[in-house]
Amino acid sequence: MSPSLPHLLGTALPIVQAPMAGVQGSELALAVCAAGGLGSLPAAALSPDALRAELGLMATQSQGCPWNVNFFAHVPPVPDAAREAAWRASLAPCYAEHGIDPARIATGPGRSPFSDEVAELVAPFRPPVVSFHFGLPSPALLARVRSWGAKVLSSATTVEEALWLQAQGVDAIIAQGLEAGGHRGFFLTRDLSTQMGTFALLPQIVQAVSVPVIAAGGIVDAPSVAAAFALGAAGVQAGTAYLLCPEATTSAVHRAALQSEAARHTALTTLFTGGPARGIVNRAMRELGALDNQAPAFPLATSAIAPLRAAAERAGRGDFTPLWSGQNASACRAVSAAEVTRSLAQGVPVPARITAIAQALATAHRTGTAWQPTGGWPELGTADAYAIQAAVAAELGWFPDGPRAWKVGGTADITAAPLPEVRPSPAASPVTWVLPAGQDEVLIEAELAFRLASAPVAPTATDALACLGTVCVSVELIGTRLANGLSAPANWKLADQGVHAGLLIGEEQAAAPVAAFTEADWQAQACHIHVQGADGAVAVHEARGSHPAILAGLHPLGTLPWLARHATAQTMAHSGGLNTGDLVTTGAWLVVKVRRGDVVDVGFEGLPGVRVHIA
Ligand SMILES: Cc1cc2nc3c(=O)[nH]c(=O)nc-3n(C[C@H](O)[C@H](O)[C@H](O)COP(=O)(O)O)c2cc1C
Repeated sequence: MSPSLPHLLGTALPIVQAPMAGVQGSELALAVCAAGGLGSLPAAALSPDALRAELGLMATQSQGCPWNVNFFAHVPPVPDAAREAAWRASLAPCYAEHGIDPARIATGPGRSPFSDEVAELVAPFRPPVVSFHFGLPSPALLARVRSWGAKVLSSATTVEEALWLQAQGVDAIIAQGLEAGGHRGFFLTRDLSTQMGTFALLPQIVQAVSVPVIAAGGIVDAPSVAAAFALGAAGVQAGTAYLLCPEATTSAVHRAALQSEAARHTALTTLFTGGPARGIVNRAMRELGALDNQAPAFPLATSAIAPLRAAAERAGRGDFTPLWSGQNASACRAVSAAEVTRSLAQGVPVPARITAIAQALATAHRTGTAWQPTGGWPELGTADAYAIQAAVAAELGWFPDGPRAWKVGGTADITAAPLPEVRPSPAASPVTWVLPAGQDEVLIEAELAFRLASAPVAPTATDALACLGTVCVSVELIGTRLANGLSAPANWKLADQGVHAGLLIGEEQAAAPVAAFTEADWQAQACHIHVQGADGAVAVHEARGSHPAILAGLHPLGTLPWLARHATAQTMAHSGGLNTGDLVTTGAWLVVKVRRGDVVDVGFEGLPGVRVHIA
């Protein structure tokens, strides 16, 4: 069985944002990466300097998330002067209409393929994934790409192309169906009658190859993602769905066309580059013949039409603009790339095993009866654990608008869980916490919790601290829905909502003084848990600077940027990751076991405390 796409590429989601030359750069790609997908930087239309700058942004701002850079791998044609002249002659009336002097139009290659020079430029940036369109570069160049440790993807438009790509050792194949926007990636044939729709092509390629297959073409929303997976896809690549995102650089005329009735009629055309590509039918395609024309071979046709495009666009018209679009632009919305990625992610099927575990845990939540997985503790990956958290939350209807509270723990291996409920329990009006029947004691953790005054924009440490609104004392009660769950392997505990049973908080105060703490302030911060037993005896637990991060010489809020990324990448965070008003607990300062009948006071020096009766 081929590996899953997240396993192969290291992404949270099996979703690739299609590289789209001319309509996007690093901004869109980085936004998709931050949302858990594979963001792609299209390199085909970039100058060396622009490519270097964009690669720099991808490498420095992807926050450890995998990303893709995409190149064309076509064989440049030999320029044919007679054909070029004939083509320009046929465009003469259009040039005249726009006052363009044909003699002054430059000829040029249009798009350059991946080469030794480009490889030299890219090498220092070590892209985690490199994808190609129009086949692959030479074996020597491909070996060079592999030497960077990059995973290699390429598009196939026929079963023969898929088999050829597999034989060259690609890590995954993009099955590009005929409904796809932009250029047909075909390279073993020029015969358009060989080209198939995504749902005819995909299952045939899946059947023929053993590497993961990524479906592309007409994948625009959750149902189409689900359909692709039903036909054997390991992932999806969506382009058109991202064209209206604010992070894309799609031109105004292109955006207007995508949002108009015109977007319902697309066609393949060679007019704009010489290679068949799908775009919204416009004046040039209607009047000059979308395919039935003498345009020079790909990519040489690019230069002749460029001045017409520029002149029409200056007048606000897309008459000569390549309005690349797939056949289904109906789901195209002017929303953030994170939102598009999340809505696509809703269609990714949850594996049956994950669903079964989540349902068992949800039943244990409802009934209060612990669940014992059969066969000990089967292997569970971290991604599985988070998928189970999300599925349990969905099953129990916890977060209709996304989670509003989070626990986060660990220093090196950070983990998190969204919390269903937060209960105020200030010292003046404490709540009574009722232990489940048959349970006489419970572990409690003293923590600081922070409420966000704004959502972190860039997930950096400085940004996260600037987002803090209030701080309060919090008490997490530990509990498990698993039989012997507290001694379960770490990922089983993580799946069980991080063995969370409840969160109690004290009165909130402005976080600014705490956000400004120096290392010495953190080390001096005192925390206590006082436990008064049923017999009146009081056990005192006290410590200073006892948070694990402080003990390790780290910042106790250093986990917040990680949480911001994690919350965005988790598909259950429908509301877009961390938000204004969210409460985040930040790890235990003291852990104490308390018993039924105890009265517990938890405090941090300088903050109002929490009191709880255990019953
Ligand atoms: C505007 C646009 C530009 C594109 N440019 C590229 C490109 O530079 N490289 C590439 O591999 N594919 C490119 N494609 C094709 C996509 O990789 C993908 O096959 C296609 O977007 C999938 O179909 P969809 O648009 O229906 O989602 C482009 C597609 C569009 C819509």
